[in-house]
Amino acid sequence: MRLLHRHFIIGVTGGIAAYKTCELVRRLQDEGATVQVIMTEAGGRFVSALTFQALSGRPVYTDAWTSPSGSGPANGMPHIDLSREADGILIAPASADFIAQLANGQTESLLATLCLAREIPLLIAPAMNRQMWQNAATQRNIDTLRSDGTAILGPSSGDQACGEIGDGRMLEPAELLQHLVDHFGPDSGAREAAQFPNIRGILQDASVVITAGPTFEPIDPVRGITNRSSGKMGFAIAQAAARAGARVTLIAGPVHLATPEGIVRIDVQTAEQMHQAVMDCIERTAAEIFIGVAAVADWRPETTQAGKIKKSSGSLHDIRWVENPDILAAVARRQPAPICVGFAAESGSLDDLRALLPAKRERKQVPLLIGNIGAEAFGEDTNQIMLCDANGITLLPPARKLELAHHLLTHIATLRNRPR
Ligand SMILES: Cc1cc2nc3c(=O)[nH]c(=O)nc-3n(C[C@H](O)[C@H](O)[C@H](O)COP(=O)(O)O)c2cc1C
Repeated sequence: MRLLHRHFIIGVTGGIAAYKTCELVRRLQDEGATVQVIMTEAGGRFVSALTFQALSGRPVYTDAWTSPSGSGPANGMPHIDLSREADGILIAPASADFIAQLANGQTESLLATLCLAREIPLLIAPAMNRQMWQNAATQRNIDTLRSDGTAILGPSSGDQACGEIGDGRMLEPAELLQHLVDHFGPDSGAREAAQFPNIRGILQDASVVITAGPTFEPIDPVRGITNRSSGKMGFAIAQAAARAGARVTLIAGPVHLATPEGIVRIDVQTAEQMHQAVMDCIERTAAEIFIGVAAVADWRPETTQAGKIKKSSGSLHDIRWVENPDILAAVARRQPAPICVGFAAESGSLDDLRALLPAKRERKQVPLLIGNIGAEAFGEDTNQIMLCDANGITLLPPARKLELAHHLLTHIATLRNRPR
């Protein structure tokens, strides 16, 4: 019951992903929260108000002029009063149109009016076709909302209802729930204030590109080579960078993690796809900082077999391996190059790591290289890292990955402020 006694307004606007919000409403109640659903007229065309009423146990509001029968504030002003009882508003799905209304302070519906007349946090989960999402107008509106303090959850990338593939998928109910727990859970504000002071604004508006997770190099349609990286360190750094005010793009290999709030996530599978996505993003976002946390496979099969390789063929012995691109080196070679931060996961002891990091940093030609003991770090929530820069080595005490991420970003912010 991580959201006991919390009360949320869930706003449903006109997008196909509205069906996923049904599941979210259920899960919020499993966590002890109460939910008031408010829909736009278009939202009601995708899922009926009756469905949400049955799931939330409360009549659904759709317009400012008529309250659902037998309910509503006595003063007849739901656009003011509904948010006064709530801890936060989540718009899921948030249509391109609704995002435009919010960014411009328009009040075409009860839901939009309520968002304007609120004092509580506003979170939105955009959901739309990839071109609608990438459109300059939508991106401008998102930037405006972000700088107004709205939390932008997702979107993620992948198959879309329209049959296309790309950015614009609404986050899954479990991911949205996790965001609400992070924001409104029992120790959310207090924990952050105690552990991570002084991070807000230290990378304000800097464009940061981060890679995370493993890569997967297919051998045939059912097999491939990967590694045990969970992505947790890279995701923690992305989360911390967003809190530091950066514009963050996270390029993730195959992982099972919720997208941190306020960042753009691009999912990839192979090292070559990650390389391509990184180079595109560095260019497109004019990245100032690149942090390569992903455990990128050094090698891939030269060819992927079209059909499943039969055991009897014995041909797994014949796989020819070719080297994958060195993404960190490729970014560091750019002119001008962003501030490049690499991660080296090594086996052995901390002393071994201390001995080999400086030479590796020289070889990679990066200002900052982070070392950790790979087998211990993979998959865990805690880690111990060593920072190696031109001034030498700093060993941080073992800590939760999010806490380490905050220390790391503080260090990167210092590097950024040094003359280069
Ligand atoms: C079948 C269908 C699916 C749609 N899916 C989406 C969507 O996923 N995201 C979106 O932003 N708009 C989508 N639209 C367009 C919106 O429903 C439309 O812009 C509507 O005016 C939004 O109204 P609202 O923002 O008041 O809810 C869709 C329209 C149709 C007809």
